[in-house]
Amino acid sequence: MKKHLTILAVLSLLFVGTVSAHDGSQLWLQGSAPSVTSTLEIANAELNQSWKGAAPVLKLNKSMKALPDGSFSITIQAGTPVIQSASEVGLLYGSYHLLRLQQTGANVTDTAFVERPSYNIRILNHWDNLNGTIERGYAGRSIFWRNSADQMRRNADGEVNEEDLLHPKDAPEIPSVDRLRDYARANASIGINAYVPDNVNASPKVLTTEYLLEVKKMADIMRPYGMKTYLAINFASPMVIGGLDTADPLDKNVQKWWTAKVKEIYKLIPDFGGFLVKANSEGQPGPNDFGRTHAEGANMLAKALKPFGGIVMWRAFVYSPSDPDRAKQAYLEFQPLDGQFLDNVIIQIKNGPIDFQPREAYSALFGAMPKTREMAEWQITQEYLGHSNHIAYLAPMWTEFIQQIKEIAHCPINNALSPARSLTAISAVSNVGNSPSWCGNVMAQSNWYAFGRLAWNDELSACQIADEWARLTLFPDRDDAATTKALANVKCLMLRSREAIVDYMMPLGLHHQFAWGHHYGPEPYCDIPGARPDWMPSYYAKADAEGLGFNRSSTGSNATGQYPTDYAKVLDNPETCPYDLLLWFHHVPWGKTIQHRCGDRVARESLWNALCHHYQHGLDEARAMQRDWDRCQGQIDADVFADIQRRLRIQTRDAQWWKDGCLLYFQTFSGLPFPDDVESAVHDLDKLRAIKLGITNYECPSEELLDSVR
Ligand code: GCU
Repeated sequence: MKKHLTILAVLSLLFVGTVSAHDGSQLWLQGSAPSVTSTLEIANAELNQSWKGAAPVLKLNKSMKALPDGSFSITIQAGTPVIQSASEVGLLYGSYHLLRLQQTGANVTDTAFVERPSYNIRILNHWDNLNGTIERGYAGRSIFWRNSADQMRRNADGEVNEEDLLHPKDAPEIPSVDRLRDYARANASIGINAYVPDNVNASPKVLTTEYLLEVKKMADIMRPYGMKTYLAINFASPMVIGGLDTADPLDKNVQKWWTAKVKEIYKLIPDFGGFLVKANSEGQPGPNDFGRTHAEGANMLAKALKPFGGIVMWRAFVYSPSDPDRAKQAYLEFQPLDGQFLDNVIIQIKNGPIDFQPREAYSALFGAMPKTREMAEWQITQEYLGHSNHIAYLAPMWTEFIQQIKEIAHCPINNALSPARSLTAISAVSNVGNSPSWCGNVMAQSNWYAFGRLAWNDELSACQIADEWARLTLFPDRDDAATTKALANVKCLMLRSREAIVDYMMPLGLHHQFAWGHHYGPEPYCDIPGARPDWMPSYYAKADAEGLGFNRSSTGSNATGQYPTDYAKVLDNPETCPYDLLLWFHHVPWGKTIQHRCGDRVARESLWNALCHHYQHGLDEARAMQRDWDRCQGQIDADVFADIQRRLRIQTRDAQWWKDGCLLYFQTFSGLPFPDDVESAVHDLDKLRAIKLGITNYECPSEELLDSVR
């Protein structure tokens, strides 16, 4: 046996040696998905193919049942690891954890510890349409739904027929079993245990038997990896596919329809997780259409799911065009419903009150509904962070949020109300597509990885996660001085990226200055006659001759009043409001002196000068990220290196575009010159105003397109 293991270890070393320069399709994993199908077999096979050392022992231990599902312990004594858990999936998680320790160079001799997840449900939301496109997806087409790209009509140059691209034929068909297995494996390796394969702007068709049979196939592939299947549903389904004339949640026939549909689903997928619902938001149907509340709508579905142990994740992303402050609306609609939701309903709340901006105040709904289960929703796909062109490591944003809701909101999202602590959850909108690198580029994989790691352990630091991810993905099996240097540069780049983006896009609490529709690039000057005001950047910036920013203090919309009293007081006063949220909560005169931090520099200067310095700093940081990366040449797979180098070039040009577009536009209000140490603009405002990229909501602009318009 020992000899056998040694041969295996040598073989795996040889194997790893040949792939260490890899294109990213491996993600952070080594070897390949085992061809076995039971959870325990997978765990053993993973250890066999990658663990170097005495064969680990896997032990089911029912006495660990009191711990949250999936928890495991690892003990290593005299070189032999023993992994224990009450469940097979816990043993699988333990196996991946053990491998990660070894592969990241951690000391794995004589150790003993227990790992338990911070949240019970750790779920990826895919905004994948049934026709294979992905809303806000920048990594190709769906891995779940018909991958019709190959079947599209193309012209002589190989370009896809535009009509086919925009309206591909949909059909219920799983594209690739291997791809789905690899997806399940990647998730299990970081503790993600659930997924929603269809867009929250849901097609009723997904609940037809034809589609459910395909969902069953997916669920069967995912199950051995501990991945539970959920579906995003359309609230009007009983009308659209059920032939009823109403979807009123209090109507008996509607209730019957859902009860029967849920039964049908559980017959096919006995461990089905439940529904994710976007209701009465951005044109989606919902209970309000029938004069009912969100609670009445959610509870109707919850009742149908309850007998099977299913849950409802009901989204709080709601806003109407008429309200004067969009940031207040989710709170206004949901907070009064506290206590009315059944215990298998959990309210899914975006981290901020607007929409996944590079920096937002946390949503005041967290902690404001003590009798209701709440979960956070993050966005991994970079809708507002430069799509897959910009390198943005998002863990710093998420750890900032976690800290705020723990310390300020005292929110129990990872400590649910039920004594069994059975319903705690965290979710994120995925950036996965069928591109070879899965996420549009290799660096973007770090955000999928970081979501999983934080969902498992929300006390991990962004730095530790960056370190793990980069070692596993970019430098597998390497441990020399050159690697150490390159690793330090990559981490430096990753850890400065989010703040760099905030600075070159929307510093000091500015928000939503994005281009109309596709949200790529700046458009503070956007003006669409007749459009909803709250879809226009000017609604958020409120630039005028006096100053800049949205007055949400008690003298304005009083959104500050939605926060816990002590924090509300801090936010309400521009002198005490954190500088990085200043323009989120206050309309500040151009000449007012503010204290702020810009990079390492703490300064007291006018708002205008501070704004100029942040934009300049953002651009400088984008350039510094290029240098960080360039220093890694020769240490990273050549194709990956070249691809990221190219994207960083685009990012720097975009940072320049953002700086010039925003500052030149705001200057038309402030009438003030740039400070001496801020570079002059290289673009012309009128030319920038004229830019229209003409891309859809499911594509990232190419370098050629960007270069051709500016
Ligand atoms: C944003 C995004 C939409 C998405 C919506 C949601 O508004 O731009 O594409 O549907 O969020 O979260 O439901």
